[in-house]
Amino acid sequence: MSVQLPTSESIAEAARVIREGGVVVMPTETVYGLACDALNERAVARVFELKGRPNENPLIVHIAGLDDLPKVAESWPPIVERLAERFWPGPLTMVLPKLPSVPLRTTGGLDTVAVRVPDHDVALVLIEESERPLAAPSANLFGRLSPTRAEDVDQELAARVPMVLDGGPCRIGLESTVLDLTSDEPRVLRPGSVSRADIQAVLGHPLGSAPPPAARKSPGLYQRHYAPRAAVVLVETLPSGRAGLTFADPCGPNQVRMPLDPRAYAAQLYNALQRLDALGVDEIRVVLPPRGEAWEAVHDRLRKASAS
Ligand code: TXA
Ligand code: MG
Repeated sequence: MSVQLPTSESIAEAARVIREGGVVVMPTETVYGLACDALNERAVARVFELKGRPNENPLIVHIAGLDDLPKVAESWPPIVERLAERFWPGPLTMVLPKLPSVPLRTTGGLDTVAVRVPDHDVALVLIEESERPLAAPSANLFGRLSPTRAEDVDQELAARVPMVLDGGPCRIGLESTVLDLTSDEPRVLRPGSVSRADIQAVLGHPLGSAPPPAARKSPGLYQRHYAPRAAVVLVETLPSGRAGLTFADPCGPNQVRMPLDPRAYAAQLYNALQRLDALGVDEIRVVLPPRGEAWEAVHDRLRKASAS
């Protein structure tokens, strides 16, 4: 493995690895991704193998802009263009009917493909230079925390890829919002920093309030996910001496004070959990953040991290 700062040389090298069917770790604005050519079945199979990811859990395909959509999606409703205009590049992933050229290996056997344009120069240049749509799940072992810094990428995973591009801390820190646009009503499959209200403002009407989608529609919605090794327990207050995340003054090195702003909290969450996990504690207590829509994605990840 080599951790490299993004330069025109290192990005060109990463693009060469991808064109040859290899896998690299790349930064995005949300979390680091394990990137490969989305149209190369063998490369995609390697990504599943590296992560220990179940085959039926589809990957997100990263493109450089709306102009690239015809390379992966077969068709899309007109609203997609308005959503793209408003949120791309950015943390909104849209699920659309796939083209036959997108391997079922990439989409977990589904006839749909999840697509987004990352808001990160390194990722965008890498997509352009490799001249491929890039499949990139978060660069963690299955079920674990997504890395938001190059140094948070699991050491053994990093050792098994030729290159980790270090783009510094991710600005958003939580995975993208996943929006399904393949049924009558658009539906959020995974909350993220693009909120329901943001999406509704573009749609001009409320999002579908349909019951949770069938397993086939939301293959990635595992109960326990985004979790450190330590057990995560959600609490009202954090006693002194206990490891955890708090909004109050921390007592001791095993407590981390989190910001009361939802975006700042999201940007720090995975790194804070990872640092406490690295202390070897058995349990991480997390003081529950406020309720409200701005905190929805944070609550979703905390719920999944704490599920047994
Ligand atoms: O922010 C992100 O989305 C990051 C960065 C690297 O872009 N990627 C990411 O990928 O979080 P991953 O593989 O960890 O999560 C992909 C999610 C899963 O919940 C998966 O089930 C869902 O997207 N997904 C992918 N393709 C889908 C499809 N065709 N239909 C429904 N859900 C899909
Ligand atoms: Mg993931």
